[in-house]
Amino acid sequence: MSSDAFGGRGARDASLVNSRGTGTMTGAARSGPVLPGKPGDPFLIGEDMRGGYSKADILHGCTLAVDRGQIAVIVGPNGAGKSTAMKAVFGMLPLREGSVRLGGQDITALTPQDRVHAGMGFVPQTHNIFPSMSVEENLEMGAYIHTAPARIRTAMDQVYTLFPAVAEKRRQAAGELSGGQRQQVAVGRALMTGPQLLMLDEPTAGVSPIVMDELFDRIIEIARTGISILMVEQNARQALEIADIGYVLVQGANRYTGTGAELLADPDVRRTFLGG
Ligand SMILES: Nc1ncnc2c1ncn2[C@@H]1O[C@H](COP(=O)(O)OP(=O)(O)OP(=O)(O)O)[C@@H](O)[C@H]1O
Ligand SMILES: [Mg+2]
Repeated sequence: MSSDAFGGRGARDASLVNSRGTGTMTGAARSGPVLPGKPGDPFLIGEDMRGGYSKADILHGCTLAVDRGQIAVIVGPNGAGKSTAMKAVFGMLPLREGSVRLGGQDITALTPQDRVHAGMGFVPQTHNIFPSMSVEENLEMGAYIHTAPARIRTAMDQVYTLFPAVAEKRRQAAGELSGGQRQQVAVGRALMTGPQLLMLDEPTAGVSPIVMDELFDRIIEIARTGISILMVEQNARQALEIADIGYVLVQGANRYTGTGAELLADPDVRRTFLGG
């Protein structure tokens, strides 16, 4: 694609938009069929995902799942494939093998745009806001699948209730906000489509411990409304404390899986991934 979809005005993250104005960057340009899921599936499951950016696979049979209203946390070393796994679940990475099933349907053949319609919201690790646009415009961008202005207003009010600091800055350029507030805008933008699954790739990157705690509290609040959370986190210990289920990914595969408490108590996990 052209590298200048935004005329130099801000984020160039192809996960937000692309220069063709339709469809997706990678994978199929159009969605394929939605198929039945499997009996007993959790709300979301990316199962045995294999694939990568070119010929070599990055994901070597990675499985991630989360139930309704639960918080799943993915941790692991840099380059383990955590973001790649998130992109695979969101349909930004063509899978060579494996499937993604949501709410009882196999959506492996859907484009990211159609996955948003199916109930997914995704906050990418980087370039997850439009810095030169106002906070309110950022939220409006997130609402593109809602046609009725009343619904946009309701969704926006919900975001402002969740993040009062963001409400106060609604007219300011999002890029002028603090790191923590920018992440709130990014989460808010993803909430604007009313997702049933919210995917967050390192939502607390670069924020202070206090802001991190606050963001985790909001994430718990979101989950309590019945929304499932699939979250990558570098603050592994703190994130596992709020996790119903945790995944340790290493080299594109599951190394450890358990409840947050189990992983925090596991001596191997502690020694290798949590700094003792
Ligand atoms: N767009 C890309 N094209 C080619 N290779 C990529 C691309 N993005 C990531 N990779 C490679 O895929 C592997 C996994 O990267 P990924 O970003 O998924 O790791 P991660 O676990 O999210 O790391 P981090 O903790 O640094 O965010 C790395 O070897 C990386 O270099
Ligand atoms: Mg990453």
